[in-house]
Amino acid sequence: MRKAIVAGNWKMNGNSESINELMGTLIASLQDLDAVEALVCPPAVYLSQVKSLIGNASIALGAQNASQFESGAYTGENSPGMLTDLGCQYVILGHSERRAIFGEKDADIAAKFNAAIDAGLVPILCVGETLEEREDERTMAVVGGQLKAVLDACGVESFAKAVIAYEPVWAIGTGKTATPEQAQDVHQSVRAIVAEYSAEVAAGVRILYGGSVNAANADELFANPDVDGGLVGGASLKPNDFIAICRAAA
Ligand code: G3P
Repeated sequence: MRKAIVAGNWKMNGNSESINELMGTLIASLQDLDAVEALVCPPAVYLSQVKSLIGNASIALGAQNASQFESGAYTGENSPGMLTDLGCQYVILGHSERRAIFGEKDADIAAKFNAAIDAGLVPILCVGETLEEREDERTMAVVGGQLKAVLDACGVESFAKAVIAYEPVWAIGTGKTATPEQAQDVHQSVRAIVAEYSAEVAAGVRILYGGSVNAANADELFANPDVDGGLVGGASLKPNDFIAICRAAA
């Protein structure tokens, strides 16, 4: 039995005041939701603030990125050890915005994945195809390639301590969600790829869907057998929507 996760990726949004307000509502409304692991991923500069707002509430904390290095002359970077020091349990890695805007390659993402595991963080490895790749019927070639690059470099056993997020690039921030069938198809294929390495790890790994998840479509997306929750961008900044999405995963 895989426990669902709903993760809010706030991206580069918010300020101290809006975060106080958002967290206040989430904490008050999610306290009875034991069936779902709710997770928030604020910008790194607000991690400490969010950690202290969470206190004893059962909301997990994640970062949106981490360095592959432990420490040293890497201006502007945050190491996985620093993130655990601040109370993070999760880190999003390989988000399509990191790949497309900041030029992260599979090898960089694999190095970050290893470093995160070593520091005791749970990586949320993002994979996903562009619209052009989907139209060329290369979805699984692309998604499979991104996944295998990390499986081969880090070993399947590390996926027993990781989460995978399928985020079709064409669905991110566009309001155009994958249909439940499209999501289930890819999630099932992703699980099958992991099963080529280990059936046991494949059965246990949680695969989240991300890309324009909202309060209206969460139910039917999460009803799929291989969709174990969501990675939510825009709607995670709207407390009532995020709460409804968390409840849809229960
Ligand atoms: O990581 C979450 C994300 O990329 C999806 O964003 O705004 O389409 O929910 P959004």
